[in-house]
This record gives sequence, structure tokens and C-alpha cells, in this order.
Amino acid sequence: MTCLLQAQDVSVRYGSLAALTGVDLCVHDGQRHALIGPNGAGKTTLLNVIGGSTKPQRGSVRFAGRNVGRLGPAARARRGINRIHQRPAVFPTLTATENVVVAALPRVIRRRRWWPGGTRRTAQHRAGSLLEQMGLADVAAVPAGHLAHGQRRQLEIAMALAGRPRLLLLDEPAAGLSATEVGRLVDLLRALPRAVAVLLVEHRLDLVYALSDTVTVLRDGRTLAAGTPDEIRTSPLVRQAYADGVS
Ligand SMILES: Nc1ncnc2c1ncn2[C@@H]1O[C@H](COP(=O)(O)OP(=O)(O)O)[C@@H](O)[C@H]1O
Ligand SMILES: [Mg+2]
Repeated sequence: MTCLLQAQDVSVRYGSLAALTGVDLCVHDGQRHALIGPNGAGKTTLLNVIGGSTKPQRGSVRFAGRNVGRLGPAARARRGINRIHQRPAVFPTLTATENVVVAALPRVIRRRRWWPGGTRRTAQHRAGSLLEQMGLADVAAVPAGHLAHGQRRQLEIAMALAGRPRLLLLDEPAAGLSATEVGRLVDLLRALPRAVAVLLVEHRLDLVYALSDTVTVLRDGRTLAAGTPDEIRTSPLVRQAYADGVS
């Protein structure tokens, strides 16, 4: 099976520090792929390289059969790579609905369907159904800045889905959420359509095992292991890595 996303031989250095060294990663269409490893392993750096905000010194990133290495984050988003940040990035003064409509704009404009006004209604309708899917229908008219942290996280996922991504990049989406909010997030991520592949960075292994079908383990900027959740759970190498430098 070909890879939807293929990163090959990726290396990133910050001065004398090697954040990533010769990392390969393949994410298939519709896959739930988790990226784990101790703090400082290079997980966020690899997501940055895939999303286009960090240029690697070496290596290539291909998406849907094309080399996207020269494209920045916005151009990659238009091609279907969408990123959810460690801190939810929403427009605080816009309502939840307006945030989702704005997030859908690049795609709608690209398809030249924004004008006339009927398209705006279509975008608003779609925003409404995404908010409902994310359990945010009740707060659709509330400014995003007034939402609870967990709701902002859900809103950011709705915004990412508004662009109809083929690959969703999530960096520690459960960080800072209450136990109830985490449960809700897991349900939402499980219910995502299979048309969307997910690359999830998460240090909570219970979430990783609940959500993913493939796991890649990074340590010190290199791939330590890759396999099914069962293989990773029982891998002595992985146990050792976590015992040495658990986050
Ligand atoms: N912008 C940066 N400048 C310098 N060092 C960085 C930068 N970003 C990350 N690093 C370093 O690169 C390594 C990998 O970081 P990161 O990818 O954030 O790890 P992880 O997400 O797995 O915790 C760490 O040692 C981190 O301190
Ligand atoms: Mg990180």
C-alpha cells in the first residue's frame, strides 16, 4: 500500500543539537498513527516538518504522491494536511460558528464558490453540522474566547475538519483537559470519518492504545520502534526507553 504521507530520512538540527536524525515515517490513508516517545524525542519537531513550519536540513516529505517539501503550512493545509496545535488557536472574539466558517474559507475560495451569498449559507450550514458533531451546538453563538479549554480544543478540531483534510496532525490534544473532557475527546476522535488519516502525538499511552492502529516510537530524534499497539506495548526496547526517560 502506498503512503498518503511519506517522510524520508528527515534530519533537523538546532545548532549542535540533533532534534531528528534520519527519521522515516509512512502514514496510510485513513490510518490512526500515534507518535510517542519521551520528552525531547523530536515528536513535535517531526509534526512541524510534516506541517511545513520547520524546514529539515535533510530529507523529503511527500503527500498524496507529491513532494511538498517546498510548501509552507498554508499551502500544505490547502492540499489536505491540517494541524491542531498544543495550544488551541482560535479567534477569541469570533463566535464558534464564525471560527469554523473562517477556517473553511481557503477551501471555499479556492473552489470559487464563496460568492454569491448562497455559498455563505452553505458554509454556515456546514459549520453548524461540524459543531454539532463536536458536541458544540449549544455554544455555536458564543465567542470562542469565552469557551472552556476543552471546548476550544473541540472547536479547533471542527475548524481543522472544515478544510476537509486528508491528514490531521494532533499534538498532545489531551493536554490540560479534565478527565471528562479527555473522555469526550477520545469519543470525538474515534468518530472521525475514515477519509481522514490521523497522526497523533500523545504521551498518555492509554489514549494511544485506545485511538491508534499503528505506533511509531521516537527517542533522541531517531525511530526506536514501529508496530501495532500490541507489539509496542510488549516491546522491551520501548519499556526501557520509557523507564529511562519517561515524560
Ligand atoms: N526551536 C528550537 N530551538 C532549539 N531547540 C529546539 C527547538 N525546538 C525543539 N528543540 C529541541 O529539539 C528536541 C526535540 O524537541 P521536540 O520536538 O519538541 O520534542 P518532543 O515533542 O518529543 O518533546 C529537544 O531537545 C528540544 O529542546
Ligand atoms: Mg512536543
